[in-house]
This record gives sequence, C-alpha cells and structure tokens, in this order.
Amino acid sequence: MTSYFITNGRVIDPAAKMDAKLSVHIEHGKIVSVSQSKKAPDGATVIDAAGCIVAPGFIDMHAHLRDPGFEYKEDIESGTRAAAAGGFTTVCCMPNTNPVNDSTSVTEYILERARQVGAIEVRPIGAITKGLAGENLAEIGDMAKAGAVAITDDGRPVMNSGIMRRAMEYAKAFDLVVISHCEDLHLAAGGVMHEGNVSTELGLGGIPAAAEEAMVARDIMLAELTGARLHIAHASSAGTVRLIRDAKERGVAVTAEVTPHHLTLTEEAVSDYDPNAKVNPPLRTEADKRALIKALADGTIDVIATDHAPHDITDKEVGFEDASFGMIGFETMLPLALALVHDRALTMKRLVEALTSSPARILGLEGKGTLAPGKQADIVIFEPEHSWTVQAERFASKARNTPFDGLRARGKVRYTISRGKIVYSS
Ligand code: DOR
Repeated sequence: MTSYFITNGRVIDPAAKMDAKLSVHIEHGKIVSVSQSKKAPDGATVIDAAGCIVAPGFIDMHAHLRDPGFEYKEDIESGTRAAAAGGFTTVCCMPNTNPVNDSTSVTEYILERARQVGAIEVRPIGAITKGLAGENLAEIGDMAKAGAVAITDDGRPVMNSGIMRRAMEYAKAFDLVVISHCEDLHLAAGGVMHEGNVSTELGLGGIPAAAEEAMVARDIMLAELTGARLHIAHASSAGTVRLIRDAKERGVAVTAEVTPHHLTLTEEAVSDYDPNAKVNPPLRTEADKRALIKALADGTIDVIATDHAPHDITDKEVGFEDASFGMIGFETMLPLALALVHDRALTMKRLVEALTSSPARILGLEGKGTLAPGKQADIVIFEPEHSWTVQAERFASKARNTPFDGLRARGKVRYTISRGKIVYSS
C-alpha cells in the first residue's frame, strides 16, 4: 500500500486548531502523523508542498450529481472526478434525481454506484417528501439507516408548513439535519432573476429577496417549535443573513451555507442575458453580496457549498426565460473562494473551516474534515498563488454551464488524495 510524505507545506486543520509548517505522513489509507519531521519514512513517496496549503479534503454538502436519471447532464463517475479536480474528497448529492431519492433503494443505489465508480466518497441526501411533491413524507428513517446524511427537497421548497413541521419532528428523532431550500413559490412565481433595477431594465420577471426571507423566517420558527436542526441552503440575501444572525443569537439550532457564485457575482452578471448566470436563488445586489461575505467571515454563515448544478446544452442554450436554473461549481470553487482571502475579506483558516470541519460537524460525518492521526487520509493540497485560466472545455464535469469560462483565476488544486490515493493532480 502506498505511503506518502507531504512536506514543506502550510498545514491548516481548523478542527485541530493547527496552522503551521508541518509534514503529513499517510500510509494504508490513513493519516499516520502530522509532525515537524523533515525526513521521509522509508518507502514513502515525497510530495513537495512548497508554496501550498495542506488541508483536510474539502466536503461539498450541496451538489447535484444527476444520477440516477439525468446521466446526460452528469453522473456519479464524471461528477466525482470533477469534484476531485476541485479539491473535494466528499460530496453530498441532492435528491432531485429520477427517480427521486426518497427511498432506501435510491439511497443504496447511489452509495453502491459511488463505491464502484466514484473517484471520491459520495454521501446521499434524502428527500423530505415523496417525489419532492411536498405532500407526503419520504422514508426518512429508512433512508437515514441506509446512509442518507440529511434531508431536503432542494430545488423546491416544502410549501406546506404543517408538512415541514412533521419533517422536522421526524428528522429530530433520527438526529438528521433538515436542509431547507427557502423559496415562497407564490412570491417567486414567474421570476427568472433577482427582482430589482436590473430585472426592470431587462424586462425579465423578478424573484424578490422576500421570497427567500419569508421562508427562512418560517423555518427558523419551525426549528424553534420542534427543536430540530435546520440548515439554510444557498443563502443569497442580506435579509437572510439578518434572520440567521438573530436566530443564532437566540440559540436556535440553525446553520447556513453560501455558494461561491453568490459570494462573487451580482445581478449584473445577467445583464447580457447569459443563461449560465441564471441560478436559483438568483444572483442579487452588491449589498447582498457584501453581507454574505461578512457573514461567512464572522461565522454567521457556516459553510461554502457549490450547489454544482450541471445542465446539458439543450437546457441552457435557449432563451433566458426558458433556460434551466443552475451552474456548475466544483472546478471553480477554490479560486472564487480564494479571491476573498486574497482581498483580505476572509482568512485562510475560515475558508478551510467552511469547507471541512463545518460541513462535517453539521452533517455528523464521523472522522471527516480533519487530519487527525488514525483518520482516513482525505487531503487537499492547493497553491493559493498559482494563476491559471478557466477553460470549461477541459473540465472533468460533463457540463459546461459556467459563467466563469475564460476567467483569470488565482489558486489551484495540486493534489486531491481520497482514502490515501491520489485521485487528482495538476
Ligand atoms: O440553480 C439551481 N439549480 N437551484 C436549485 O435549487 C436546483 C438546481 C438544479 O437542480 O439544477
């Protein structure tokens, strides 16, 4: 079994409160030691990480792998390769597949398929309601036993508050976190971008921030009522940040994530009707973006998650109003997030934490998101200063729906190590 000695890098492991020039020795798929030693043990292959950060492999708690059912957009094989190229060693996949992951058979299929063809580990997230129809609860307990790490109807909200309450009560019994896609469908109806000056100028239907915030407020109230753990998916507005901050101050069990695109783009990205900038929730204002960055920096928002949403050309190369919502995110996450570090809006430690120990804690992923000796060797090595140009045609993902094609990026993944094996290098 291969043994590696990763040396000369800056090791950041927020879970262990570690940030220093150290060497990491791995063998038999596990972390043996993190030490000041400069001497490679006999038989170990040396990886020179000079100029690089060595961190626990990134965990993406929000991605769409489209398998089963939409394999023409992405599948578990291509999706996990793309994730590995982005520095991820664990990806949690959303249940809006066909069939929907609302039962043990789909949960088991995803886990089995990932074992067979996955470059990295996949943890499925089960549906809250059968068929994502918002009416009857899915097999929540059975899916949890089969390996689902959370529940959500992502892509759609659970509009019926009574059903959401029952889901939270169930989730609490299984200690599962409920991930909420917050969108009041009546307020959002007909909208294809953020409702504001730009939507008016473009003559496009708008989705007001209130469509998100009304549901964030409702779900915080339901989390208080039930005592369940609530996680707000893809937070996009300053109002959402205020609601989360207030709830956390009052001790409500709420956590939240933000995507790299909501941290870096605004509604202006839609100005030339680029369908690749059409996402749900929509890209919002400069003030919203700033509030999200600040909330990520101060811990109000816990996690960076990509919402990797691959679509085929036929879903996107249509008029803006008809295009599907979503953009891919695995292979551009790191430089987008690092831009905040380069701008001094975020510390490197917070960036690593938001991609490792925070999602591991929220999902209860035992042994993940840390470099502690004895744990599985899931590691990312990245070079924050390396400049490169994003070329979507070279992505491992099957999809190309990104507004970042051609971007001059700063920060590159050098190695991704999953279970002690190099699954990506550049
Ligand atoms: O932009 C999005 N795309 N937002 C969602 O909530 C769902 C996702 C998808 O499945 O394509």
